[in-house]
Amino acid sequence: MKILVTGGAGYIGSVVAEELLAAGYEVVVFDNLFQGHRQAVPEAVVFVEGDLADRRAIGAVVKEHKPEAIMHFASHTLVGESMQQPFLYLRDNVVNGLNLMAAACEFGVEKFILSSTANLFDDPKRMPIDESEEIVPGSPYGESKNILERSLRWLDKTKGLRYGCLRYFNAAGATKERGEDHDPETHLIPLVLQVAQGIRNKIIIFGDDYDTPDGTCVRDYIHVSDLARAHILALGALDTGSLTYNLGNGQGFSVKEVIEVARKISGHPIPAEVGPRRPGDPATLVAGSEKIKKELGWKARHESLEDIVGSAWEWCKGHPGGYD
Ligand code: UFG
Repeated sequence: MKILVTGGAGYIGSVVAEELLAAGYEVVVFDNLFQGHRQAVPEAVVFVEGDLADRRAIGAVVKEHKPEAIMHFASHTLVGESMQQPFLYLRDNVVNGLNLMAAACEFGVEKFILSSTANLFDDPKRMPIDESEEIVPGSPYGESKNILERSLRWLDKTKGLRYGCLRYFNAAGATKERGEDHDPETHLIPLVLQVAQGIRNKIIIFGDDYDTPDGTCVRDYIHVSDLARAHILALGALDTGSLTYNLGNGQGFSVKEVIEVARKISGHPIPAEVGPRRPGDPATLVAGSEKIKKELGWKARHESLEDIVGSAWEWCKGHPGGYD
């Protein structure tokens, strides 16, 4: 079975491409290399450099390769940036996603998996957050994913396109060959590990006056390989209908706990300083992933924070400057 992976040169997309190949799928990666890295793309895939804004280019790829399913990762993904530059999200993320969906419908692709986000839940009434939680996007980024999720629901009804929406919490960790390398880096775990590597001299903790046990924000870190396996399970389940799942480890860890684990693993003191809150950060986000566990038999294999941070540290040691 052939799968088209957009954003397959990015952090999550490249690991999903790796897992798809290992599971015996053929993979075509479509990526504009704007944020992704050519070196992250597994050798065994067919790589097409192109931009989803170019309707003709994506149409031609779908027409030529006739994938049985599309997995869509190519996207702007930063909550903070989306507050500064909303059109990158409300226009580009949405239009690019719709261009891809239109190509899927035009050339007979019947299955579509969307990389969605926990940023749909800005004001959760219950923790952990399950799929019954009301959707209140926390930013233009979350809103762009909400619009794409809703578009997929309409395309299921009108065109028979079966979809899987997977709403990730905090993707983290690395495989042996693929890890997190963003420019600029804004995510906690890679930043903390850059301090351990001597690339930065300290980590700033964005606020310690939240209503959490140690005052710092609590997040649900899920290993990128566990996320990737969920995509493959979801793909199999699309035969019986569309689906939507929240995906996390089900455990929350504070910013201070992450730093402490990174100190233990790296043996570096990792100086930390408390700074102001980062606008838009909710105090706690923990996923309720019971639905995907029950329905698809998915289970995180990397449950401990030590395991997740440890895998990221191994990758960093082997790639001190990232991919480049
Ligand atoms: N943090 C710091 N200092 C830093 C960087 C981050 O204290 O230098 C804190 C943040 O305030 C937050 C936590 O570390 O409390 C995690 O922050 P990240 O930037 O690593 O991740 P986010 O939780 O902001 O965002 C991630 C994904 C988004 C997704 C969101 C959903 O990057 O795409 O989870 O919860 F929308």
